[in-house]
Amino acid sequence: AANKKLLFLPGDGIGPEVMRQVRRVIDWMDRKRKITFDVSEGLVGGAAIDAHGVPLSDATLAEALAVDAVMLGAVGGPKWDNPTDYTKRPEAGLLALRKELGLFANLRPAVVFDALVDASTLKPDVIRGLDILIVRELTGGVYFGEPRGITDIGNGERRGVNTQVYTTSEIRRVARVAFELARKRGNKLCSMEKANVMESGLLWRQEVTKLHQEEFQDVELSHMYADNGAMQLLKNPKQFDVIVTDNLFGDILSDEAAMMTGSLGMLPSASLGAPDANGNRKALYEPVHGSAPDIAGRDLANPCATLLSFAMCLRYSFNLDEDAKLIERAIQNVLGGGMRTADIMAPGMARCSTTVMGDSILRELDKVAS
Ligand code: NAD
Ligand code: IPM
Ligand code: MN
Repeated sequence: AANKKLLFLPGDGIGPEVMRQVRRVIDWMDRKRKITFDVSEGLVGGAAIDAHGVPLSDATLAEALAVDAVMLGAVGGPKWDNPTDYTKRPEAGLLALRKELGLFANLRPAVVFDALVDASTLKPDVIRGLDILIVRELTGGVYFGEPRGITDIGNGERRGVNTQVYTTSEIRRVARVAFELARKRGNKLCSMEKANVMESGLLWRQEVTKLHQEEFQDVELSHMYADNGAMQLLKNPKQFDVIVTDNLFGDILSDEAAMMTGSLGMLPSASLGAPDANGNRKALYEPVHGSAPDIAGRDLANPCATLLSFAMCLRYSFNLDEDAKLIERAIQNVLGGGMRTADIMAPGMARCSTTVMGDSILRELDKVAS
């Protein structure tokens, strides 16, 4: 039965190219696994600006609120880089989606596939077997704090303002998600902020500590200043299991973690809201990378991050863990077989396009599913 409602928002740049590969996997699931999704498609980001003059239309937002899950490619690009009005940028569409859907918990797992140990710029011993999870707060902090804006303050001077702000409930709900996930993994949580310089960071540390005392004493909790955390991630990433951090630090640290996996093109993400009375939560799945204007339109992008995001979608929104594992295994095997998009290319491997990577993963899906 087609009761699984998905909204596809391919977006800009390489977004549509990598999302096309997800569409093929969905067709494959329909044919081979008898699992059918009801997929609708909409515009977001620059594509929506071109069509409707806004990066997220009310109709698309309404659709996103109505479906079981949203799959997003990427937004943004030089064509729409409006340096003054941030509400008219493609990125504002994505931020509005996150905010309106209440997607406060952003899960960004960084897993190093054995076949890609050499694709990272870090030494093999440092990253082999790495499996960490960054939980990034996604609807608060300096991304949304008021006041914000650029104002003239006289004498030819201007002032650019953003506000870092967190409340106790915002901190507690994302920390709770991170503690619960840690319990299902290595039972270790490291919280990162700048409690040494910022009141919002101090409150973050106090609330995480309090929640730990109250409900999660069985989880091993540590705290780190985010600058040290950035360094420790490069020095010895395997010391971490789950990391919980704010919106901006999480954005930066997850790009850093991406390079351990070999490429930004490998990192998936899930953005989750609070469960409703029936245990369902709003959710959006997207690769961590952006629209990659430098390679867009050339069939060069690595579709793995987006396909792995779809695997997270199957797992978290549809409880299809077995099918999620099939996709993950197929990707692992294809990489193990030496197939490489340009971003993870290594000597002796076969360089391939986005489409051919998709072909190979589909062929491998047939094998692992039988
Ligand atoms: P980016 O992630 O788009 O690209 C950074 C570098 O990584 C580029 O060299 C790119 O070619 C490479 N890369 C990224 N994804 C890849 C993939 N799948 N396969 C191979 N190589 C890949 O970041 P940027 O260049 O800083 O930003 C470009 C635009 O994307 C900006 O408008 C930015 O705001 C936007 N952006 C959007 C999202 C999103 O939609 N979630 C995330 C980040 C950036
Ligand atoms: C990400 C991106 C976004 C962010 C931008 C495009 C709004 O960098 O998803 O990591 O900063 O959150
Ligand atoms: Mn980012």
